[in-house]
Amino acid sequence: MKLKDKNILLGITGSIAAYKAAILVRLLVKEGANIKVVMTKLAKEFITPLTMATLSKNPILVDFFDPENGQWNSHVDLGSWADLYLIAPATANTMGKMAHGIADNLLLTTYLSSKCPVMVAPAMDLDMYRHTANLKNIEILKSYGNIIIEPGTGELASGLSGKGRMEEPEMITQKVIDFFSVKKKLKNRRILVTAGPTYEPIDPVRFIGNYSSGKMGYALANELAEQGAEVILISGPTSLTINDSSIKKIDVQTADEMFDAAVKYFKNCDAAIMSAAVADYKPAQQYTQKVKRKSDKLAISLEPNKDIAAHLGKIKKKNQVIVGFALETNDEFKNAKQKINTKNLDFIVLNSLKDKGAGFGFNTNKISIIDKTGKVDHFDLKSKNQVAVDIVKKLISLL
Ligand code: CTP
Repeated sequence: MKLKDKNILLGITGSIAAYKAAILVRLLVKEGANIKVVMTKLAKEFITPLTMATLSKNPILVDFFDPENGQWNSHVDLGSWADLYLIAPATANTMGKMAHGIADNLLLTTYLSSKCPVMVAPAMDLDMYRHTANLKNIEILKSYGNIIIEPGTGELASGLSGKGRMEEPEMITQKVIDFFSVKKKLKNRRILVTAGPTYEPIDPVRFIGNYSSGKMGYALANELAEQGAEVILISGPTSLTINDSSIKKIDVQTADEMFDAAVKYFKNCDAAIMSAAVADYKPAQQYTQKVKRKSDKLAISLEPNKDIAAHLGKIKKKNQVIVGFALETNDEFKNAKQKINTKNLDFIVLNSLKDKGAGFGFNTNKISIIDKTGKVDHFDLKSKNQVAVDIVKKLISLL
């Protein structure tokens, strides 16, 4: 699914080609896009709202408000919801209004208030298409940054033949896919992410672990995939799931297993983000049978685990980037900077447990990013998904 979770607002105007919008919606939905449809009044004469609502799985929008219950259809909300506003078919009339800032229906007010990219697929008769007024309007729309999907040449509804046929839905879908994939900055990159806690067994039923939920690492994996990367997610035990085919998830339990998987995959990766809360110690000896309760004290001797980040830092090649995390309770910046050096990291993401809403288990996080030169960027408290966007942006700047 090449358009997974993309919000596409489809504007349909009154052209005979409106029937193709039904096929277009089906194709876009098949690629995983969320679709909302806004129609002009005339468009409803060419294709029924019921058809479009059923295919897009959303009620279609025509008026500024619903006359039945007075509910307001906010063009501002629609515009900010959309990642792309696709107007297909676009009549000469609608393009003329778009070019000159006329906003006498919901489709047009949404156009004027939307901040997302706009694609326009004209559809009209050949003489209308080649009229200087229309061609000038198209040039104006291009100058606004709108993307024009050139109409094809062929048989037209009027019986004439020439340029003006709306591009076929399959081609429009491909252009939408191409548009989003050009924006992806991590195409052809492979990135390793460690996430979650590790469990270090004491006996067959007990372990040493920590409170890491894995949410930050999973948010990173999703954002990397969103940017087009192939992701290797090495995850300790968590309750989280992944449903993106560009993320290969490798489940591990212990720090040793995480180490082996990380070393195996890092060779062929462009970068590694070490977000796992790896147990620093493991029981020196693992009991093969359940340890029984006794009345005297029980001491478990611990031995250090291998430092995965430090090992990758040692074997990393010049063009590979390693990002570490530091969860600190005191002397945060000093400790974090030290970890950049000891682990040979390119930058480190610091969370302080002193900050409310940061750290294990929360859906939010508050981070600072410190790079090799000592430069520090502070960020506000945000959802872990938004924090992932900030971290991935920084990573992209180094690749
Ligand atoms: N890390 C790792 N392997 C370990 C320990 C830590 O890969 N065995 C990584 C973490 O994923 C994180 C970074 O190293 O990206 C720092 O982890 P942290 O636990 O803060 O550092 P430690 O080196 O364990 O130092 P300390 O616990 O003493 O603060």
